[in-house]
Amino acid sequence: MHVIRLATQNFRNLEDGELFPCKGVNVIYGGNAQGKTNLLESLWLFTGGHSFRGAKDAELPKLDVQKGTNTSKASLALDFHSEERDQSAVLNFENGRRNSVINGVKKKTGSALIGKVCAVIFSPEHLLLIKEGPARRRGFLDGALCQMKPGYAGLLSVYNRSLLQRNALLKDISRYPELEDTLSVWDLRLAKLGAEVMRERGKYLERLAPKVHGVYAGISKNHEEIQISYSPSVKNYVENLSLPDAEQAFLEELARTRNTDLRSGFTNSGPHRDDFEIMLDGFSARVYGSQGQQRSTVLALKLAEAELLSDFTGETPIVLLDDVMSELDQSRQDYLMNHLHGRQVFLTCCSPETVELLKTGMRFRVEAGKVFPENME
Ligand SMILES: Nc1ncnc2c1ncn2[C@@H]1O[C@H](COP(=O)(O)OP(=O)(O)O)[C@@H](O)[C@H]1O
Ligand SMILES: [Mg+2]
Repeated sequence: MHVIRLATQNFRNLEDGELFPCKGVNVIYGGNAQGKTNLLESLWLFTGGHSFRGAKDAELPKLDVQKGTNTSKASLALDFHSEERDQSAVLNFENGRRNSVINGVKKKTGSALIGKVCAVIFSPEHLLLIKEGPARRRGFLDGALCQMKPGYAGLLSVYNRSLLQRNALLKDISRYPELEDTLSVWDLRLAKLGAEVMRERGKYLERLAPKVHGVYAGISKNHEEIQISYSPSVKNYVENLSLPDAEQAFLEELARTRNTDLRSGFTNSGPHRDDFEIMLDGFSARVYGSQGQQRSTVLALKLAEAELLSDFTGETPIVLLDDVMSELDQSRQDYLMNHLHGRQVFLTCCSPETVELLKTGMRFRVEAGKVFPENME
């Protein structure tokens, strides 16, 4: 898919106006605090998701400096090409609530837009995906699977509910030991649901791995090799285990850790403790990777996620890259500017030298909320 036109009204610091991006790479540049990220955010909101900066909807309409509050309404409009036709969407933010209009049809919610516009976003916060503990990486996996597999979100929430119930029982047993007899019922239930979660995550990573490998080879110009692999909390779970065998593996693990679980009042093993490993030339990217390598790694994960999603849906998501350029050397910057073919990219940066790297595409200068398209010559 690609965006044909974006119009903003009363949105953050952006001056009301419209923008006509190209189908390839669009570079948005300017000094700090001019409105570059706000522009990417306005595009992202059409995915139906929350702001990637964790902002509340009520904060999006332009601040009224005199009153010291946000104005009551902001409005965004998008013309885009998807599913082999031109489409349009409007997204209104009014008094902290959203509503939308899709191809002329009014919808009461903003979430009606989900699935219409697809995008992947990289912003500096996403570096935590590699820098922090496993919860972020599980979040990445689950987010991707929820977009690709309609039933996955439901499966995950039932698993999490069962986990909470098992944990509550573990705590109760310390006061009422006779309850231990009922624990095996919860073990069976958790193992059944957990086996499905593990298999979905394992299969997803197996499909993602060659794509990550390919993108990273491009970014590093074949100088470094990346490997990702599933690192399930259930130790005897191995790749391609059948559902009954995966269930059995989880059950055995629950039996093995039962005493520890009873002491801690918590389930110590299972998909809620999963992780995946990211290695660069055989070493952990999290522990040993340089800033530039870690950035390249997260980019490779995000771009690979987009590739897999487009294999699956037939639509290529738009790629939003906020402030990725710093800490990348010129050859890696060149890759992002000139080698991401076949998809629409919006990329922000500060330095005018970086902008010069763009060979074909469009550039937009942002100054105090005003967006100026520039000639490439
Ligand atoms: N609701 C709002 N109304 C007016 N200005 C806002 C609003 N929200 C954020 N801003 C301002 O927008 C400016 C630009 O933000 P941003 O897009 O993050 O800059 P950058 O160009 O560095 O990415 C900031 O100075 C911020 O104070
Ligand atoms: Mg910014």
